[in-house]
Amino acid sequence: MSSPSLFADVELAAPVVVFQLTADYNADNADKKINLGVGAYRTDEGEPWVLPVVRSVEAQMAIDPALNHEYLPILGLPSFRELATQLILGKDSRAILENRAGGVQSISGTGALRLAAEFLYRYYNKREKSTPVYVSSPTWGNQTAVFKNAGFTDMRTYRYWDAEDRCLDYKGMLEDMLNAPEYSIFIFHGCAHNPTGVDPTHEQWQGIAKACKERNIFPVLDCAYQGFASGDPDVDAYSARMFVDLGFEVLICQSFAKNFGLYNERVGNLTMVMHDAPTLSRCKSQVELIIRAMYSNPPHHGARVVASTLANPAFKQEWLDNLHTMSSRIKEMRQLLHSKLRAKGTPGNWDHIINQIGMFSFTGLNASQVQYLKKRHIYLLSSGRINMCGLTTSNMEYFVDNVHDAVTNVKDGKL
Ligand SMILES: Cc1ncc(COP(=O)(O)O)c(C=O)c1O
Repeated sequence: MSSPSLFADVELAAPVVVFQLTADYNADNADKKINLGVGAYRTDEGEPWVLPVVRSVEAQMAIDPALNHEYLPILGLPSFRELATQLILGKDSRAILENRAGGVQSISGTGALRLAAEFLYRYYNKREKSTPVYVSSPTWGNQTAVFKNAGFTDMRTYRYWDAEDRCLDYKGMLEDMLNAPEYSIFIFHGCAHNPTGVDPTHEQWQGIAKACKERNIFPVLDCAYQGFASGDPDVDAYSARMFVDLGFEVLICQSFAKNFGLYNERVGNLTMVMHDAPTLSRCKSQVELIIRAMYSNPPHHGARVVASTLANPAFKQEWLDNLHTMSSRIKEMRQLLHSKLRAKGTPGNWDHIINQIGMFSFTGLNASQVQYLKKRHIYLLSSGRINMCGLTTSNMEYFVDNVHDAVTNVKDGKL
């Protein structure tokens, strides 16, 4: 008889909720079903969308004899890193001109966060045994997991969402910042906050920066949706550019999953803005060693698509048009959902649906109402977050009818 496995004590981990939701949706044989869980763009036909500009660039790449499958440098494709950094900071950013801002290609936005976390854990010189890392409440859950995996043990939350009024709890957020230990690390969502769809105004961002200065808070910006909030990547870069203009050192984690539709190509960039050029060089050299030992070097394809697009004015314009198509469809779905809920007289104030921005809406539906919807083959996170792109002109009626029933029949968690 063979001896028991050396791993017999390994416990079964809980499934990752958002992936499980899609698996449940796929296994559902109902004719009418809606997946509002996954964070990916869908067309009005409910299909994934390869951006036309990406198709054109890929067609060119396929016949380019100069391209091959050699390793990229450890820090990634140089043209991509430069263009991605310019995209978030602006071409004329002083930090770029002074050579104290630079990019490191990463395995999408998650990988950029992972590099930021590892770098801060090792080299943030204000780090004590347990420097607190603050994430918004609520947030995209992986932020906490990624920073924990890098070694941070004191993960905390700052107030962000005012559930009563369904808006930003700005006062609470500032209070939590001002009460945080000096030199704490705060992770902010650069734009299109996930899951609430609520961003600070420009004036509020200035207040947030002031609080950072007062408490010597180190800001990490998670920018997974540049271009998705307003349709204009420059407008959505406000918070990142503000921190840089105000003289902060900052780490900015960019993803090109959503704004280029390159989800599975895992294209991201960690933009590092430091006090001076020599500091940036030294820090980048350490990130290079971190990458070397973690995954050696990044993949090429997606980074080449992004770089070729951003480097060519005609392709860049086409990309901006594609981005506009996506953000406009989301805004249209917000308007349609809002007007249909109101026309039906569904109890509650639904104005937050049109006031929120970006891919997600925090509907205010509670966990029991979400369960009720699941029985009607509508899949969303128990927090009530929905991906607006999962809604289409054809499934809107079905969704609204069922939300109406859920809100009317399921109160206080009971049917
Ligand atoms: C807030 C936030 N940050 C980062 C990411 C990272 O995404 P990816 O690793 O696919 O680029 C996501 C994706 O959903 C997100 O919502």
